[in-house]
Amino acid sequence: MTTYLESERLTLRPFTAADADLLIELDSDPAVMRYLSGGAPTPPEEIRDLAIPSILAGYERWDHDLGLFAAHEKDGGAFVGWFCLRPLRGGPREEAELGYRLRQAVWGRGYATEVSQALLTKGFTVLGIRMVWAETMTVNRSSRNVMEKLGMTLVENTPTPDDMTAVEGSEHGDVRYEITKEQWERRQA
Ligand SMILES: CC(C)(COP(=O)(O)OP(=O)(O)OC[C@H]1O[C@@H](n2cnc3c(N)ncnc32)[C@H](O)[C@@H]1OP(=O)(O)O)[C@@H](O)C(=O)NCCC(=O)NCCS
Repeated sequence: MTTYLESERLTLRPFTAADADLLIELDSDPAVMRYLSGGAPTPPEEIRDLAIPSILAGYERWDHDLGLFAAHEKDGGAFVGWFCLRPLRGGPREEAELGYRLRQAVWGRGYATEVSQALLTKGFTVLGIRMVWAETMTVNRSSRNVMEKLGMTLVENTPTPDDMTAVEGSEHGDVRYEITKEQWERRQA
């Protein structure tokens, strides 16, 4: 198995075409999808026909340096969800989005913070990234807490996209957090 990243307790690896069922199960938990779809599961065919091909194409586009990766516990190997660090399609390669989606069973153990910290380190020291951003709904407190624990700064409040206006809390809009390489380096000192 190719390893993309290791943190203290977790390992990230590239997804393969055989992993659709892991994502289908992850997205079938209404609590996981609460601030993404309002709780609705992602249709399995959307994962098989759109999400997986798009994830695999991303590895090629970014030379296997950036993308969306499966997270497993080192102890026992259980799949716990995914993390991403990737530019916008067609956007500058040195600016990457941080994202995460974890199984409810592992929330509150510090996994999102731990792996995101390792991703920032890799991005800023190895991959040539100059700025990392992350976006979520204003009311998604646990996601924002992770961004704030990473030292990211709230830079913008934007309206929730039209396809999410039915989601609870969408009237409060979305938030965008950023951290530059310089800001990250100052925090390490
Ligand atoms: C958002 C999400 C990834 C957070 O994952 P998580 O692993 O529970 O996050 P963490 O454990 O790092 O932080 C959450 C809590 O764990 C606690 N924690 C326990 N051990 C910890 C440790 N060693 N280090 C840091 N925090 C720790 C913290 O107190 C923290 O509490 P806080 O939120 O009050 O600050 C997870 O809730 C999720 O997948 N949600 C559904 C999908 C989603 O909304 N994704 C974001 C969309 S933009």
